Amino acid sequence: MLQSIRGMRDILPAEARRWRMVEDALRGILQAYAYEELQLPLLEPTELFTRGVGEGTDIVEKEMYSLTDRDGDSITLRPEGTAGCVRALIQHGLLFNQTQRVYYSGSMFRYERPQKGRYRQFYQMGAEAFGLAGPDVDAELMALGQSFWRALGVEGQLRLEINTLGSPAARAAYRDALVAYLAPRKGSLDEDSQRRLERNPLRILDSKDAGTREVLAGAPELPEFIDAESRAHFSRLREVLDELGIACQVNPRLVRGLDYYTQTVFEWVTDALGSQGAVCAGGRYDGLVERLGGKPTPAAGFAVGLDRLVLLHEAVHGDPAEGLAAADVYVCILDDRFHGWSMKVAGKLREQLPGFRIRVHAGGGKLKNQLKRADQSGARYALVIGDDEAAAGQPTMKFLREDRPQEQLPVEDIVTRLRSAAQSIR
Ligand code: HAM
Repeated sequence: MLQSIRGMRDILPAEARRWRMVEDALRGILQAYAYEELQLPLLEPTELFTRGVGEGTDIVEKEMYSLTDRDGDSITLRPEGTAGCVRALIQHGLLFNQTQRVYYSGSMFRYERPQKGRYRQFYQMGAEAFGLAGPDVDAELMALGQSFWRALGVEGQLRLEINTLGSPAARAAYRDALVAYLAPRKGSLDEDSQRRLERNPLRILDSKDAGTREVLAGAPELPEFIDAESRAHFSRLREVLDELGIACQVNPRLVRGLDYYTQTVFEWVTDALGSQGAVCAGGRYDGLVERLGGKPTPAAGFAVGLDRLVLLHEAVHGDPAEGLAAADVYVCILDDRFHGWSMKVAGKLREQLPGFRIRVHAGGGKLKNQLKRADQSGARYALVIGDDEAAAGQPTMKFLREDRPQEQLPVEDIVTRLRSAAQSIR
């Protein structure tokens, strides 16, 4: 049997309904903050990521799905959205003398070791703000996150960790100091960290290896190297967060795995999903626009990992009974002659009851079997259309989840009943 590729999942209908709900909630909030949608290609020139995300990062070194196309060009399935977003805004001249607040969503691809919450094809919803240098924008991005979690009822499960990497010069000075300290102790580091020592030493701070952590205990600390301007930016950010009532923890070890960050970095983390606890992550990347060929432009953003957010939603809320339903109303047809009229009745209900899902039976069969299908669909109501109903122009309404006698009613009355039932349930 043919199987999906490892780390690439099918989202089946019952799960897809939760996805839709989660995604719609985030989209609604992004729109309420007046962020505008941007749709971006899945494939980009490989160079965009080697230059944007950084040569020494895990993503570029070992996780990209790259291929040579028929023209001999190296192209890559996007491992993240920020670089493509910057490329698009530069390409279309949308960063000249103007600010932009945009969002995008879609699949990203990384060749990682799959486990719960970590996949090779995963889904992000990202927001990015351009041309705005102040800590107010960093705070707005965090407020957006908090609005997401509130809307989905998962706010109690997520904590905000923040840090500052300082100016590029401060970050470079720290990097040098860290390497100077670690190089003579290289033999005590784990294998991954030894490799990172040359290419991406800041990432060693993330190591979970006990030996490495012991060595790190005596290492120089990032906060000692932060320049005065970045320090002021960071402390103003914390004041604004405080005023907004957004709790956060400063984590001086938070460095992030992509090269483009400067100053503020942050992650929303949960303990409810095991080791893959980062549900949303981002920060400021003031140098990236210039690095990709644009004019110097301050920028900041984040991406939510939707796979993880959906898992968290499930962990918190479980499966609501009505959440499994595929339809609200199921229309049964007792004779082929009534197909046209049944579809018209269904059409009228769909028109007058937005949000209702009306499924019309297809394939014939006895009423008993049709009602069985209605039950399997999760519908609360069935409409039955046979000779009597067609003659009277009134379908019979059956209540599948209540102990109530069926009634033959004009379509307008059925609409009224369903509408008031919806108000009491939803
Ligand atoms: P990132 O930390 O690489 O940042 O990814 C952001 C989020 O995507 C993670 O916190 C996680 O929830 C989710 N994620 C990452 N990899 C996987 C995976 N293999 N499986 C499932 N979920 C995953 C970025 O991608 C930056 N572009 C974020 C950003 C936007 N920074 C500034 N603007």
